[in-house]
Amino acid sequence: MERLSTRLTELLRIQHPILLAPMDVVADGRLAAAVSRAGGFGIIGGGYGDETWLAREMDAAGDARVGVGFITWSMARRPKLLDMVLERRPPAVMLSFGDVRPHAHKIKSVGSLLICQVQTLEQAKDAVANGADVLVAQGAEAGGHGISRATFPFVPAVVDQAPDTPVAAAGGIADGRGLAAALMLGADGVLVGTRFYASQEAAGVQSAKNRIVTGKGDRTIRSILFVLHVKTYGRPHIVVAYCRTIFPRNGAVVRLTCSSTKRKSRRDTRRRVPRGTSTRLL
Ligand SMILES: Cc1cc2nc3c(=O)[nH]c(=O)nc-3n(C[C@H](O)[C@H](O)[C@H](O)COP(=O)(O)O)c2cc1C
Repeated sequence: MERLSTRLTELLRIQHPILLAPMDVVADGRLAAAVSRAGGFGIIGGGYGDETWLAREMDAAGDARVGVGFITWSMARRPKLLDMVLERRPPAVMLSFGDVRPHAHKIKSVGSLLICQVQTLEQAKDAVANGADVLVAQGAEAGGHGISRATFPFVPAVVDQAPDTPVAAAGGIADGRGLAAALMLGADGVLVGTRFYASQEAAGVQSAKNRIVTGKGDRTIRSILFVLHVKTYGRPHIVVAYCRTIFPRNGAVVRLTCSSTKRKSRRDTRRRVPRGTSTRLL
């Protein structure tokens, strides 16, 4: 089989220009190792940071070459998590959603590559200035947190702005056609989340995986519901599988009727959303 060789495959020493997104809790050691062993690059989802989970999942990855990803602002509250990861000298550490400056030098000083997920050109510029070895250009189609620019126009803009840095496209890419399109836009590969969530090796619960497989794209909802749920119940693995009623009005009470995949129960919660709240702020 002919292989695609890009700057990303060269740099990460992988066979296929496909990275596993560090989905909090879902991208565990088993899934990350499976992706790496299949020739891509698995990144464990360190997410908001749970020391015990992270240590266990890095162990579970065994001798597979995997990286670790963090939600930067959350890890910054407990930088010990990063130290713990760097002690193991991972090939790469990925940072998303936050200021990379306090951590970039530390990551690179142990020889790990720095992968930065960005949503704006300003962030891309900042990441490159702080030594990013790889940029992940995340469009608004992405699962999880994000901002507003769509993947298709954002990727080439990042490529043009950072011509010397390999770029992986993220957001709405789920198959070879998406990879081909990303390469045509000038990217060096892709970072894939939702599609891998639906795989057998992923840590997500089966009901959520079924929903991804059977769900229709037309039913996609983009909202701040997940974040509100995390804030209400603490851990993000209490995934909101679907919401029945949302009445999002700035400054109004938002009624969320959610099914919790962890507790397998329905919960109602009422939260006051501050005026002006948007996904951009979250
Ligand atoms: C369930 C889920 C959880 C995610 N959690 C994280 C996370 O903890 N850290 C992070 O950097 N990105 C996270 N992401 C975003 C991914 O890094 C990536 O941008 C996204 O999955 C790409 O879009 P796709 O889901 O359409 O493939 C998450 C995505 C999903 C679907």
